[in-house]
Amino acid sequence: MLNYPLATSRLTLRRFTTQDESAIRTYATDPRVMHYLEEGPMTQEQVQAWLDNQCGEAAQAFPAILNQTGQLIGHMVFHLWFAPQTYEIGWVFHPAHQGKGYATEAAAALLRYAFVDLQAHRVIATCQPENPASYRIMEKIGMRREGYFRQCILRPDGVWWDEYFYAILAEEWHNMNL
Ligand SMILES: CC(C)(COP(=O)(O)OP(=O)(O)OC[C@H]1O[C@@H](n2cnc3c(N)ncnc32)[C@H](O)[C@@H]1OP(=O)(O)O)[C@@H](O)C(=O)NCCC(=O)NCCS
Repeated sequence: MLNYPLATSRLTLRRFTTQDESAIRTYATDPRVMHYLEEGPMTQEQVQAWLDNQCGEAAQAFPAILNQTGQLIGHMVFHLWFAPQTYEIGWVFHPAHQGKGYATEAAAALLRYAFVDLQAHRVIATCQPENPASYRIMEKIGMRREGYFRQCILRPDGVWWDEYFYAILAEEWHNMNL
C-alpha cells in the first residue's frame, strides 16, 4: 500500500526486502516489544514467514530506516481497512529507538500520504488502554478516541483485552494542516 518511499527529516519508510530479516529479528522476537501485537513475539521461523509476506504486493508493514545510518529501527503498519477509503495505521520500534519521537514522525508522514496521495476519507488506529506510548502517538498526530471496547479481544491465554479505537477524518487532517 506504500507505492514509493516516504522521507521525513530523520527517517525513510520503504518496502521490506528479504535482507531485512536480521534487523527485524532484533525486536520482533522480543516479548517486551511484541506484547500488544496480535502475532505476539515471533520465532526465527515466524519472522522469516512474516517477512516473506511483507515483501509481496499484499504488504501491510513498512520498515523505518534512519536516514543518518541506514539502520532499520522498526516498522509501520499501514493498510486498507474494511470500509472504503479507510486505512489503519500502527507502529513497532526497537526499544533502543523508542522515546525519541520516531514513531510519531513516521505516523505523521503516513497520515499525509493517506490524505494527500491516496485521498483517504478516514484513518483509524487501535491499541490497549495499558499502552499509553501507543495512544499518545495517536493523540499527537490529531486522532480522536472514538471508542473504548471492553473485553473485545480474546488472547491465546484465555484473557480478554480491552481496546481503544482512534480515528481522524480527511477534513480534520486538512484543517490541522491549513
Ligand atoms: C508504541 C511505540 C511504537 C512508541 O514509540 P516511540 O518511539 O516511543 O514513540 P514516540 O517517541 O514518537 O512517542 C511516544 C509518546 O508516548 C509517551 N509515552 C511513552 N511511554 C509512556 C507511558 N508509559 N506513559 C505515558 N506516556 C508514555 C512519550 O512520552 C511520547 O509522548 P510525548 O512526545 O508527548 O512525550 C513503542 O513504544 C513500541 O514499539 N512499543 C512496542 C510495540 C507496540 O506496542 N506497538 C503498538 C501496538 S498497538
